Amino acid sequence: MTDLYAVVGNPIGHSKSPRIHLEFAAETKQDLFYKAILVPLDGFDTEAKRFFKHGGLGMNITVPFKEDAYRFADEYTPRAQRAQAVNTLKRLDDGRLLADNTDGAGLVRDITVNNNIALKDKRILLLGAGGAVRGVLQPLLAEQPNCIVIANRTVNKAEQLAEDFADLGKVSGLGFADVDEPFDVIINATSASLSGELPPLNPSIISPETVCYDMMYGNSATVFNQWATEQGAKLTIDGLGMLVEQAAEAFFLWRGVRPSTAHLMKTLRDERR
Ligand code: ATR
Repeated sequence: MTDLYAVVGNPIGHSKSPRIHLEFAAETKQDLFYKAILVPLDGFDTEAKRFFKHGGLGMNITVPFKEDAYRFADEYTPRAQRAQAVNTLKRLDDGRLLADNTDGAGLVRDITVNNNIALKDKRILLLGAGGAVRGVLQPLLAEQPNCIVIANRTVNKAEQLAEDFADLGKVSGLGFADVDEPFDVIINATSASLSGELPPLNPSIISPETVCYDMMYGNSATVFNQWATEQGAKLTIDGLGMLVEQAAEAFFLWRGVRPSTAHLMKTLRDERR
């Protein structure tokens, strides 16, 4: 029987995950099927039970079910435990479910490997303090940056996150207005881009050496990346690479084979033009 995998979310119609994983499977000659499942907002547990009972081997989880998946799992990788949010479940041989969060590893790999930018000793500014930021903090801190500043509209959420991760490195939480020095790397993880909005940022956070990364992606530059370019940032990168790399990391967890990502990423970028 063909091994079965799926991505669950709501909405899920535009998910690129089935396409990405089926291309990984073809490239690595793995016999598997991967489908997208639209799950009602209160239906994660029901769907997950059904899916794994019927032989599903692994599941990706996207908005808004990452915390539900965290509660549902039996065992955790350290990074999933830290993130308290899960984008990948794997059924182990004994039937228990192992939870991982590959978002941060995908982000770090896209920055450091695909774009050849070392994070060690860099000053990093993270914009936002929601689940997306919690999901990437541990892998970012593992790169040993000089510091990470978390800036958020709701300041106490940034402060709380900084406190939660303080044992892993130098992290602080501030409001947008309190951040006005240039950073080496700025990562936008607010959901403001979704509604075409820009957080109230000081232009002085960008120098000609600053690299800006938006976790979002679209058919054209995101509002944040447009703004960063206008302020003279050295380079802007969008989240398409993170999407492909987090998928590759999940595929590796499931199958023990690491697919190559460069060709697929180029194809997806070319299709947007
Ligand atoms: P996600 O899982 O994508 O991180 P989330 O947990 O709802 O989603 O977090 C959304 C983040 O985007 C938060 O940091 C939110 O700021 P608040 O904590 O103050 O709500 C931020 N955000 C959303 N819309 C924003 C906007 N228009 N300007 C600035 N920040 C915004």
